[in-house]
Amino acid sequence: MTTPPPKKRSSTTRASKPVRPSREEEPSPPEPLPITLVVGTDVAVGKTWITCALARALGEAGQLVVAVKPIETGCDELSSQGEDGVRLAEATGQVAPRHALLRFPGHAAPAVAAASVGTDIDYDNLISRMRSLATPDTLLLVEGAGGLLSPLTWSDNHLDLAHSLDARVLLVAADRRGTINHTLLSLRVLGVEKVSVVGVVLNQPAGPDASTRGNAASLVRLVEHVPIVTVPHLTDPSLAAEAVKEAAGWLLP
Ligand SMILES: Nc1ncnc2c1ncn2[C@@H]1O[C@H](COP(=O)(O)OP(=O)(O)OP(=O)(O)O)[C@@H](O)[C@H]1O
Ligand SMILES: [Mg+2]
Repeated sequence: MTTPPPKKRSSTTRASKPVRPSREEEPSPPEPLPITLVVGTDVAVGKTWITCALARALGEAGQLVVAVKPIETGCDELSSQGEDGVRLAEATGQVAPRHALLRFPGHAAPAVAAASVGTDIDYDNLISRMRSLATPDTLLLVEGAGGLLSPLTWSDNHLDLAHSLDARVLLVAADRRGTINHTLLSLRVLGVEKVSVVGVVLNQPAGPDASTRGNAASLVRLVEHVPIVTVPHLTDPSLAAEAVKEAAGWLLP
């Protein structure tokens, strides 16, 4: 008995077999959405309030958002209630993180607060933890601690943070006397450092002064290529998202 010759593979079979692309041809994974660093011209200018309002406005526009405070100082060992990191998490509804990534007692700049408890901040670890929160679908908002040059470590400030995260900056300034100088100083250093600025939010304080009504118009005359909006001081928090809608539009992909 003769053995039948082996079956020939038809060319159709060969053609339908999926061809594995070479390494160079493999599509690169989608990029995470750009990170936004919310920095103030000073402490207590309304960074958390504005970031929470932005998170709500973006959420209402259908955008997934995570908002995080990398380092928070002035924290209580027993309770995180009312902290910036907690307020941010409540605004987005995110599962994690529920508070700032690093928390220290003592109202001071992060580097100072960490030193006062004998700790060194692991900056690189902090950066990778933040980067992991930004995805192709999730917009990450990062609230800074104080102004641009406020030290996060003894060698890294918020300009370094913006560079390490490839973040764009949204600058929050209080709409009161002195803000023209503080805003221009911040924008000048951001420009020198080639950090991209999405816009300036002039946030009205509870007690306006004689400059409050004119600062925005003056800054518009003095600043080129950076949008500036004014946000009113609101007693009704349910109006916050609507009040920052224009600034939220700057951040949408
Ligand atoms: N537009 C606003 N309308 C109503 N209340 C506001 C507004 N902006 C800020 N506030 C209130 O002003 C106070 C200071 O604001 P906020 O905590 O956001 O400042 P901050 O810049 O985040 O301060 P910190 O430097 O401590 O992080 C808070 O009580 C906040 O709720
Ligand atoms: Mg804050």
